[in-house]
This record gives sequence, structure tokens and C-alpha cells, in this order.
Amino acid sequence: MGRAFLALASLTIASAQTTTAFLALASLTIASAQTTTEWLVSESPHWYAITHDPFCDELAAGTLPNATLTRYLVQDHKFLDAFVVLLASMIAHAPTLADRVPGAQFLALITGKENTYFERSFDALGLDAAARAAPPAPATSAFIGLMRRAAASGELHAMLAVLVVAEWSYLSWGERVVPRDGLSFLHLEWIDLHRGEYFAGVVAYLRGMLDALDLHASEMAIAKSYFDDAVKCEKDFWDMARGGEGEL
Ligand SMILES: *[C@@H]1O[C@H](CO)[C@@H](O)[C@H](O)[C@H]1NC(C)=O
Repeated sequence: MGRAFLALASLTIASAQTTTAFLALASLTIASAQTTTEWLVSESPHWYAITHDPFCDELAAGTLPNATLTRYLVQDHKFLDAFVVLLASMIAHAPTLADRVPGAQFLALITGKENTYFERSFDALGLDAAARAAPPAPATSAFIGLMRRAAASGELHAMLAVLVVAEWSYLSWGERVVPRDGLSFLHLEWIDLHRGEYFAGVVAYLRGMLDALDLHASEMAIAKSYFDDAVKCEKDFWDMARGGEGEL
């Protein structure tokens, strides 16, 4: 509904000129066939980059240097607290119990199996306490800040926009890459956490909640702003992980 409203607003402005009005009407027809999350992705200049980062292909090929994987995992693990706060806030703001339950179950995975993956990986990579406690890189701090801001906003659409970017972009690369045979758990488990029926269901749930919200134009603009900021944070994070910035 919100999408149609935005397009309708631009149709009203455009109607001063017949040709432009016709074009706007054509885009209204196209836009109303799109869900909110499809539209957000279609408007995102960096969506392709964050779902096709070479890091993921090297991870699946088993050729990713341990130093790169270490930098990525140590930094990614620093999101955990802010992510738990964001997901818990979304659960608290969801309209019904039925809307909360899948989120709560995903929260259990994040704080359970995924968290033990980090611990086991840090052990396998031989990281001491100092390496695990490395300060957050600027890209990490920026993303943590965005997650906390979305959580504190009290706005369900802001929370969902950030969660959808984080989980949908990971499902996209997780389903895209082809892990080679005999991959170590370090590589394979991180891919497996981000593909398959369960994780696809999590993404469908988060997208479905955002798509179901009847957002007016200003709320849609807020959702888009959080979505775009989250995509930028993901892009900067991949760049950092591949050695563009940050430290081991
Ligand atoms: C990377 O770490 C894994 C896990 O400890 C180890 O098996 C592997 O040999 C390491 N790779 C290199 C190139 O050092």
C-alpha cells in the first residue's frame, strides 16, 4: 500500500504533463506489483555487490586465507550483542504472538548454534584472548551503531529493514555459492548457517512482516533510509574483511 501511495503522489505531481503522467501511471502499475522488500532491493545500488562479494566464493572454494577469515569472524562476532538487541526489539514490537514466535526461535539459533560456531572457529584458528578482543573496525562500529539506532527507534519498519538486509543478503550469497567437496567445518558451517530451508524461512518471515506493514510515505522513506544504510554497512564490512581497512 505504501509503495502505491508513493507512486500515486508522484503521479499527482507529474499530471501537469500528460506524457509524464502516462509514464508515472506505467510505473505505478509496475510498482504496485512489487512488494516493499522487492522495491527496496530494486532501488539499492549496492545490493549486487553485497550478495556477490568474492569473499564468499573464496570461502566456498576453501581458498580464503586464514588471516582473512579470522579478521572477518572476529569482527562479525562483535555484532552479536547489538544484533540480539535488534532482533529482540523487533520481536517485542511485532503485532501478534504468531509474529513473535519465529523471531524468538531464530534468536535461539543466533545465541546457540551460531555462537558456538564462533567459539569453535576461534579455537581452530588458534586465536588467543587478545586476538578475540581486538577492537571493532570502523565498519563494524558503524553497523553496530545502525543496529542499536534501529532497535532504539521504536519503529518496527526500521528494525525490519535492517534485519532484512542482514539476513536476505546472507541467504542470497549462501544459496549462490557452491561449496567444494571436503571443505573444513570452518568454511562449510558458515555457508550452511546461511542457506537451506530453515534459513530461507527466516528470511521469508522477516520480509513477509515488512511487506505486510501498511506504511505511509514518510514511514516508507524511513524504512528505505535504514535499508540503504544497512546495505552500505554490509558493503563496507566485506571491504574491511578482505583487507581494505581494520586490523587483525
Ligand atoms: C587454516 O586453519 C585451519 C584450522 O586450524 C587449518 O586446518 C589450516 O591448515 C589453516 N590453513 C593454513 C593455510 O594455514
